Order: sequence, then C-alpha cells, then structure tokens
Amino acid sequence: MNQDEINAAAQTLLDGKLLGLPTETVYGLAADATNDAALHAIFALKGRPQNHPLIIHLHDEAKLDDWAINIPQAARALAKAFWPGPLTLILQRAPHVSAVVTGGQDTVGLRCPAHDVAQAVLKRFAAVGGSGAVAAPSANRFGKLSPTTAAHVREEFTKANPPLLVLDGGACEVGIESTIVDCSRLTETGQPVVLRPGAISAAQIATALGGGVYVDKPNTNATTPRVSGSLDSHYAPQTEMVLVPSDVFDEFVVEKLMQGAVVGTLRFSEGVSAALGGEPTTEKEIKVAKNAKTYAHDLYANLRKLDHAHCDLIAVETPPQSAEWLGVWDRLSRGAYRE
Ligand code: TXA
Ligand code: MG
Repeated sequence: MNQDEINAAAQTLLDGKLLGLPTETVYGLAADATNDAALHAIFALKGRPQNHPLIIHLHDEAKLDDWAINIPQAARALAKAFWPGPLTLILQRAPHVSAVVTGGQDTVGLRCPAHDVAQAVLKRFAAVGGSGAVAAPSANRFGKLSPTTAAHVREEFTKANPPLLVLDGGACEVGIESTIVDCSRLTETGQPVVLRPGAISAAQIATALGGGVYVDKPNTNATTPRVSGSLDSHYAPQTEMVLVPSDVFDEFVVEKLMQGAVVGTLRFSEGVSAALGGEPTTEKEIKVAKNAKTYAHDLYANLRKLDHAHCDLIAVETPPQSAEWLGVWDRLSRGAYRE
C-alpha cells in the first residue's frame, strides 16, 4: 500500500465519506466517529438498525481516556496486553461521544486494530487534523457474512453512491471479528464479561487479568442437525445453513441429495460425492483443516464460496467442542439460525 492511498483514505474520512478499511479481523466500513452525518451513512449503507452500537477504532492505547471514563484497572491491563490486536473493550462513554456511535447507550466499544493499513490510516487521519477516531462495523450488509478481502467488500456494496473507496490490505489474518469484553459493569466478583468470543481466548484474558473472566457460552453441544432457536440470525449466508454432527453427516447429506436437493458441504474430510464413489465437486464440497486458527481465517470466504455455488442447503460439520473453537462455534450457530 503506498502513501498516496493512505492519504486519500484519510482525506475521505475528513470529508465525511465512508471507507472500506482492512483490519486484522475483518474489513470495516469506516467513518469519522465524530461526524454524525457520516455515521448515519454507515447505518444506511449497511441497513443496520440505529440502536446497534459501532466500535470506535483508535491508533493506540493512550487514546483510551479521550473516549471513556471510570476505566477499571482490568480494562487497562487488557489494553496493555492485547492492543493493538483483535480485542474490543466496552467502557463507560465519555460525555462527548456521539449517541449515534453508541446507539444511544451509556457505553462505548473501543479497539486498536493491529493491521498496518488500519494503523497508517488512523495515524494519518489524526495528523491531518481529523479526530483520529474511526467508527467501523464489519463491512457487510446487516446480518450477512463479514468480509475478509477487499473483493468481498466491493461485492457487498456494488450500488454504493458515491462508489466506496476500499483499501486492499489482503486477506484478514484472523478472519473472525474481535473478542468483545465488557468492562463497563463488572460481575459481583469484579470480573469483566466476554460478550463475543474471538481469537483472543477467555484463558488468555484471564491470564492477563491475573484473575477470572465471565464467559457467556454459546451452545456448543448440538447433537442433532438443527441448532437451538435461542440465538439471533447473524453472520449468515443467503443459502440456508445447517450444522450437522460428524457421525450423522453422510447420512444427512445423502438423504437430502435423494430428496433432490443441491447440497454444499463444509467438513473435515472428503466430500459426500467421494463417499458415494464420485468425483468431488470442488465448488460445492469444501474440505477444511481441523485447526481452529486456519478454520477461522477461511470461514467467511468458504461460506461465501458455498453461497455462490447455487446450493439449496449448506451443511457444515460441527467443529470440536474445545475452547479454541468457541469463536467459530459462535459464528456458525448464528449463521445457521433461522427465525
Ligand atoms: O473485529 C471487529 O470488531 C470488526 C472490525 C471491523 O473491527 N468490527 C465489528 O463491528 O465486528 P460490528 O459492528 O460488526 O460488531 C460490533 C459488535 C456489535 O455486536 C455491537 O452490538 C457490539 O459490538 N458493541 C459495540 N458497542 C457496544 C457497546 N457499547 N455495548 C455493547 N456492545 C457493543
Ligand atoms: Mg458485524
């Protein structure tokens, strides 16, 4: 990425326009966090309800006190341990923080992204007289799959007017959204709460705190092909998606095929057509490694591929139940949920 592109991006933010910004987690749809008109444009372009708060991205940890008040020691310890990196802290908002960015709440989400391009844009945006604070939700239409490449962002917003400037920072290293830790209201025992699991695990957080952290666990014990209805539909492909346990996977897919359905699969072993003695159809049968990091890295790109493969149904093999898979479980469960 050359400096001209970084300068143009900073100017775009100064002008109150939107920007497709790479981060190490997923691409963000970025705007000046102090410009309400620009913030409204984010909600409009995403089709996102106004009461869903946005995360503010900052260049470094030193900026924490500009945006939050009553910051507990736990939050400072987490910022020190994990910033810049894939961690968002929820804190009590400073009085000047726009109600548009917080969705009208008394708290604010803050994060310092680690991606070089995000870092360079934030730095430049401050240097040219901007606020240096960038609100950025994932750069996808509301409820859909998050983007992990510049091409994904362009594909989400082909009709944006004016056309969206998208910086190409390559494929996102992490692949799923940041871990969110609520430090605005601690539990009775003084613990922050993990609101969204991500690459930074609860164990890492607990270690950095020298104490515990409370995790609201997603449902990881699906034993039937249907996910329980307690989760909101989110991170979802267009095509219906079903989580299917390993031991009934072939049976499930073969039955669907016999009913005449076109089935796409995301699984840890060779595809169903191979099991049936046929040739694997690469665009419909994706084999993934049983490694939580690489799985997360490729998750949204794989689901997008399957979504484009003209299937009636996407069957996803349930991952292992161990802690490092929590972030993946969370995204899969929400993606598979249908009202
Ligand atoms: O990795 C990420 O966090 C990406 C990249 C672009 O930084 N951003 C992202 O933003 O995932 P978004 O808007 O797609 O998801 C933000 C989540 C939402 O579920 C929102 O409700 C929650 O963060 N959030 C933001 N501010 C909050 C607050 N004050 N209290 C509780 N939840 C908050
Ligand atoms: Mg999102």
